[in-house]
Amino acid sequence: MRLSSLFAFASAALLPAFVNAGAGTSSHFAGMDEAVEIQKESIERLKDFLGPNSFPGSSNEKRAAAPPPTIEFKNPKAQEFFVDGTKIPDVNFDAGPSWSGLMPISGAKNETRKLFFWFWPTNNASNGNELLFWTNGGPGCSSLEGFLQENGPISWSWGQAEPTPNPWSWTNLSHVLWVEQPVGTGFSQGTPSIENDDELAAQVMGFLEQFLEVFSELKGKDFYVSGESYAGFYVPYIANWIYEHPEGLDLHLKGISIADPSLSYGVVQQEIPALRFVQANQNLFPFNSSFMAELQNISDSCGYTDYLDKFVTFPPNGMLPLPIGTNGTFSVTPDCRIHSPIQRAVTTLNPVFDVYRVSDTWPNLWSVLGFPRSTQEFVYFNRTDVQDAIHAPHINWMACTDTNVYVNTTTGRPINDQSIPSTLSVLPNVIEKSERTIIVHGLADFILVAEGTRIAIQNMTWGGKQGFQTPIEPETFRLKDMGVFGNEHTERGLTFVEFFYSGHMTPQFVPWAAFSTISFLLGRQPTVNTA
Ligand SMILES: *[C@@H]1O[C@H](CO)[C@@H](O)[C@H](O)[C@H]1NC(C)=O
Ligand SMILES: *[C@@H]1O[C@H](CO)[C@@H](O)[C@H](O)[C@H]1NC(C)=O
Ligand SMILES: *[C@@H]1O[C@H](CO)[C@@H](O)[C@H](O)[C@H]1NC(C)=O
Ligand SMILES: *[C@@H]1O[C@H](CO)[C@@H](O)[C@H](O)[C@H]1NC(C)=O
Ligand SMILES: *[C@@H]1O[C@H](CO)[C@@H](O)[C@H](O)[C@H]1NC(C)=O
Ligand SMILES: *[C@@H]1O[C@H](CO)[C@@H](O)[C@H](O)[C@H]1NC(C)=O
Ligand SMILES: *[C@@H]1O[C@H](CO)[C@@H](O)[C@H](O)[C@H]1NC(C)=O
Ligand SMILES: *[C@@H]1O[C@H](CO)[C@@H](O)[C@H](O)[C@H]1NC(C)=O
Ligand SMILES: *[C@@H]1O[C@H](CO)[C@@H](O)[C@H](O)[C@H]1NC(C)=O
Repeated sequence: MRLSSLFAFASAALLPAFVNAGAGTSSHFAGMDEAVEIQKESIERLKDFLGPNSFPGSSNEKRAAAPPPTIEFKNPKAQEFFVDGTKIPDVNFDAGPSWSGLMPISGAKNETRKLFFWFWPTNNASNGNELLFWTNGGPGCSSLEGFLQENGPISWSWGQAEPTPNPWSWTNLSHVLWVEQPVGTGFSQGTPSIENDDELAAQVMGFLEQFLEVFSELKGKDFYVSGESYAGFYVPYIANWIYEHPEGLDLHLKGISIADPSLSYGVVQQEIPALRFVQANQNLFPFNSSFMAELQNISDSCGYTDYLDKFVTFPPNGMLPLPIGTNGTFSVTPDCRIHSPIQRAVTTLNPVFDVYRVSDTWPNLWSVLGFPRSTQEFVYFNRTDVQDAIHAPHINWMACTDTNVYVNTTTGRPINDQSIPSTLSVLPNVIEKSERTIIVHGLADFILVAEGTRIAIQNMTWGGKQGFQTPIEPETFRLKDMGVFGNEHTERGLTFVEFFYSGHMTPQFVPWAAFSTISFLLGRQPTVNTA
């Protein structure tokens, strides 16, 4: 499917320009002609945004061959990882050169743990001085999901019949390295052997050292680390580890970006803001009045209702408390669970309710990666022809693993991540040592709620102060050809952006907005705004 077909003009269901609205009255309705005209204007704006030659109205088959690579690797070992961009199964355009495969996490001869990576050079020769790392979250979800459905040069997103070039690929801005980590995720090999994210970071750093031995032309680059969701743990811990072990790695870490990140406890990012989210999106959560009363009761008695107005002030008045619904722990008591009852009730009304993007309605969009739902005959990365093309092992590939990636290193038994949430541990140090730190959150995400991210930020102390000192003003994030597209606030090296229309996977749902923030991260533009 091409982008233009996203704008396929409906006709049958539209009103003609004039209709007789009923007995005795005749009114003028905005009809099909006007609707078609409005949609045409929208395409013109997109052309302006993407440049005249990039609008994918022309067929993929007619696309010129990819331009020459912006980097070459001399080490003969690099050749073993080379992927021919004209031979990627089902991709009917030349995607350009890339390198992928398994790389050990240490130089030890007996090392059995290997992470799967896919490296893509930038397509723009003037952007070759940076290396951008991407990881998905989970824990245990594959970064190839990000690659294929969010920010990579080949887009095979939900509902697309076939892959298309991604006009908002982050490879326009930088060399990009997608890595399936930690061990236990995706194609990565070996037995999980970490308890926490310091150990995770040490393994990623070991991987990067091995990677740079083969791809040594990347040594000395400016380095940025990005990710989403549970990478709100991973990314700050990886960056912190690199800052605290500067001798180990021949890259210059400059900043991080985390999208819809896990930054705190579930009570903060799911329970407290849940009912306010429902009220703000009432048309998508059309609950009956008795259920609304039940929810209100939970919210009142568990300390959620006035939490944001009372505690999330600018600046905050001291440390933010955990609400009474936690009964003095870090999670809520069963009576105070409100997020999952809401999800259950809304899924009864909207069978394809998507907690990752609450605006989804019937019909159900298929996903070639089987995520978030299994809807299709094949999972792309589970095909042996795809695995052969990218030097991946023939294994049962899953978007998110069904086994634990953290284990008790004494007993070998599965455990949860033992790390303290990043806002209460390593993130302040990372912000202070970075040139730029970005947190973004989609306003249509309900797996983690943007207002909960505000709570986490206001309870974090960095640069000598707690939280933002002045309010996040509305209507402050602006994009060329779109205008106001959310809210933005920057203080003491931290930039926070909330995106309209976006669910959890921001580069998938609002790629233009995600692209603009990454362009800012890399120093290509002075703010996240483009208008
Ligand atoms: C990305 O690069 C391609 C190829 O040069 C170009 O057509 C496209 O417009 C660029 N996208 C953006 C958002 O600048
Ligand atoms: C590799 O060998 C060393 C030394 O014998 C040992 O300490 C280490 O645990 C081994 N590593 C793995 C992954 O088996
Ligand atoms: C390539 O990158 C440079 C520097 O960031 C930018 O000015 C230029 O517009 C980019 N070219 C394209 C085709 O996007
Ligand atoms: C409100 O919650 C309290 C305490 O959980 C419960 O006793 C009461 O029945 C609830 N009222 C309604 C209307 O749900
Ligand atoms: C806020 O931070 C303090 C100090 O680190 C911590 O004790 C408290 O539980 C945090 N509150 C929330 C709501 O996360
Ligand atoms: C709250 O904590 C107290 C003291 O730890 C405990 O006795 C009580 O059962 C807890 N209540 C709930 C609802 O979990
Ligand atoms: C109201 O919504 C709740 C939650 O989905 C449901 O259990 C209940 O049956 C509904 N009541 C009516 C009258 O539909
Ligand atoms: C992946 O492929 C294997 C082998 O063909 C198959 O057994 C498995 O069910 C597939 N998994 C998915 C998620 O498609
Ligand atoms: C791992 O298991 C040992 C032995 O049962 C136990 O003492 C330790 O607390 C466990 N560690 C974690 C992080 O759960």
